[in-house]
Amino acid sequence: MSLYWFPLKGAVTFKLFQKVKCHVNVVISLTPPRAPEAALSSRRPQSPLEPLMVMMMMECDHGAVHGLSALLLIGGALFLFHQCVRGPTRYGRYAEGTGAWSVPARWGWFLQELPAYLVPAFMACTTDGSAHGRRLLLCTFTLHYLHRSLVYPFFMRGRPMPVLLVVFAAVFCLGNGLLQSHALLHCSPPGLDWDWVDSVRTTAGLGLFAFGMVMNIHSDHILRNLRRPGETAYRIPRGGLFELVSGANFLAEIVEWFGFAVAVWTLPAFSFAFFTACSIGPRALGHHRFYLEKFPEYPRSRRALIPFIL
Ligand SMILES: NC(=O)c1ccc[n+]([C@@H]2O[C@H](COP(=O)([O-])OP(=O)(O)OC[C@H]3O[C@@H](n4cnc5c(N)ncnc54)[C@H](OP(=O)(O)O)[C@@H]3O)[C@@H](O)[C@H]2O)c1
Repeated sequence: MSLYWFPLKGAVTFKLFQKVKCHVNVVISLTPPRAPEAALSSRRPQSPLEPLMVMMMMECDHGAVHGLSALLLIGGALFLFHQCVRGPTRYGRYAEGTGAWSVPARWGWFLQELPAYLVPAFMACTTDGSAHGRRLLLCTFTLHYLHRSLVYPFFMRGRPMPVLLVVFAAVFCLGNGLLQSHALLHCSPPGLDWDWVDSVRTTAGLGLFAFGMVMNIHSDHILRNLRRPGETAYRIPRGGLFELVSGANFLAEIVEWFGFAVAVWTLPAFSFAFFTACSIGPRALGHHRFYLEKFPEYPRSRRALIPFIL
């Protein structure tokens, strides 16, 4: 299997990120293809899945990894600024009056999150068989999106999602899944494979990730049970982290991704954690304002996102 694929890797890597460069225009430098174009065209893919597999089995492209990480950092900061000025992203309680085309919430979440599960799962399966440790670390990311795409949507009782938002989110999940998997599987030093098993930093990161994921699922569970099927009313969430903050699910998700970043210690992972905070932090503040305005009896000691502080 490996011998069969490897001669094609260099050329296709170049092609993939050349495409990314065209779209996002941030790639700083590119490694030229190892195999000449002629060599590539002389070995055309045999099945429809082949090109995809070839693209995903590649050597580290540092330029693309740094460029896309920078894009996450800059995009996160701009997203934060945009939400501070224009209010939280227009879905859920903020979608009213937008008149946008929409899809049922469960289909929206399923479709938009699925690429972030499929891409890492596929890459973990098709990467060089020796990278067991790195693949195990990537399981954290895959596990989150397995739940988010295949479990969460089928129990939720939310409002319809704007189609455009679902498309943007799906593209983001695809790109981010590719970036995180590529950085971890193909760019981390091979020493990472088993070194992390006795590393205090990685253990702490994994612990933080697990805590964040459990609290995120628990908080989403509390929210879901505030409604009966078919209801769209809002009620005061109680229990768990909601006793401390209005955005308990968001706080837990941010903790989760910073835990992941500490565990895998890659630039893309930290960039994604930062992007997540910028993306859902303002949502927690918006929800908090909403509750204070709507419910006179809302607990005054509760904060928006950071217990006792914000
Ligand atoms: N990593 C990222 O960048 C990112 C980005 C976005 C979301 N997420 C995660 O995805 C999950 C969902 O996000 P979200 O923005 O949809 O969260 P949300 O606004 O808190 O809504 C979650 C669900 O609970 C319902 N709900 C919320 N508050 C309620 C209340 N007081 N009473 C009754 N029902 C209530 C919502 O219904 P409505 O739809 O009717 O409001 C929705 O179905 C969260 O865990 C979040 O952390 C992650």
